[in-house]
Amino acid sequence: MDVRVLVVGFGHVGRAFARLTALKGSLVERRFGVRVKIVGVVDSRGAALKPEGFSGAELLKVSEVPRSSVCFSEPYGVCGLSLKSLYDSVQPDVHVEVTPSNYVSGEPGLSNVMFALSRGANVVLANKAPLALKFDDIMGSARARGLKVKFRATVMGGSPLIDTVLSLRSHEVKKVYGIFNATTNYILTLMHESLIGLDEALKTAQAMGVAEADPSLDIDGWDAAAKLVILARLLGLKLNISGIARESLSKVTLRDVVEALKRNSVIKHVAGFDALSGEAWVKPETLSSDSVLSKVNGLLNAAVIETDVCDYILIGKGGGPVETAHSLLDDIVSITGGLI
Ligand SMILES: NC(=O)c1ccc[n+]([C@@H]2O[C@H](COP(=O)([O-])OP(=O)(O)OC[C@H]3O[C@@H](n4cnc5c(N)ncnc54)[C@H](OP(=O)(O)O)[C@@H]3O)[C@@H](O)[C@H]2O)c1
Repeated sequence: MDVRVLVVGFGHVGRAFARLTALKGSLVERRFGVRVKIVGVVDSRGAALKPEGFSGAELLKVSEVPRSSVCFSEPYGVCGLSLKSLYDSVQPDVHVEVTPSNYVSGEPGLSNVMFALSRGANVVLANKAPLALKFDDIMGSARARGLKVKFRATVMGGSPLIDTVLSLRSHEVKKVYGIFNATTNYILTLMHESLIGLDEALKTAQAMGVAEADPSLDIDGWDAAAKLVILARLLGLKLNISGIARESLSKVTLRDVVEALKRNSVIKHVAGFDALSGEAWVKPETLSSDSVLSKVNGLLNAAVIETDVCDYILIGKGGGPVETAHSLLDDIVSITGGLI
């Protein structure tokens, strides 16, 4: 079975997804009978389109063009087309949304996703913002049209957290909390291990490519809050991003870290919600060194799911372009029914 895929957003994740499809497309086809054909890749200035699907070699080549330049790549580049024109040209079955997450307007992802659904395309997202802001509208639109929206890449995309939460169908989930942002966890790990202040740790994280030039979405807890909304919505809880109490990591000083260490504790930026009270938070917490989360360091994430049956703990990679790209591909295969 052929699946025609349009990739909207061609930065770190979009390119990793194109490379992954080139390298593992045949594995997926052999195992599940699904042939993933990328028919277009789109960045902020234009697109490269091939209605019959790019070959693996072509995907590897287009993944190497400079940022914002896919529309100049010969012979498939087109600059400045609207999404409607792109859809008319390549008619995708699946829309992959990997544009930047904007937690104020949700754009451009929100309009792109709603447009994709209106054109009968299933949607796979790594961009969290549309779901964090308009989960019900997106799901309602998909349901009305018999389409699927998958978003395993949005929360702990390097680990199967979304699938785990969805699998707990008869459990009463009482509380979900954890470390859902790799950047802040990396910064805190540096502060504890090297005894440096937040500014120096942030600079190191930026030099390592772990933190953005503008790290505020991570440091101020927006990214983790958006993930909480998505997890809560999966459980049918009407949590809104504006209803989450956010405390920035920026208030944590080296002195706080030293004081915590003296008490055999560590500071972590913990995000969570209580499903019964509806309370939700992202805040620096001092955790004793024998707690599970205190041992989750560097780029690792962790989730604790407390239920009426027992508690579950998942520790693994939060994201990273390669891991996120795998989640996108897994979602595409699952949409097409290739997975049991
Ligand atoms: N990086 C990760 O490990 C990771 C993990 C999980 C989830 N995510 C989420 O995945 C998304 C992509 O992340 P990323 O790291 O790949 O970001 P990125 O490197 O900044 O790439 C974003 C891409 O979107 C393009 N874009 C911006 N506005 C657009 C528009 N109006 N129309 C079409 N394309 C547009 C950009 O174009 P230009 O190239 O022209 O600037 C760029 O190609 C984000 O929402 C992020 O939160 C990322």
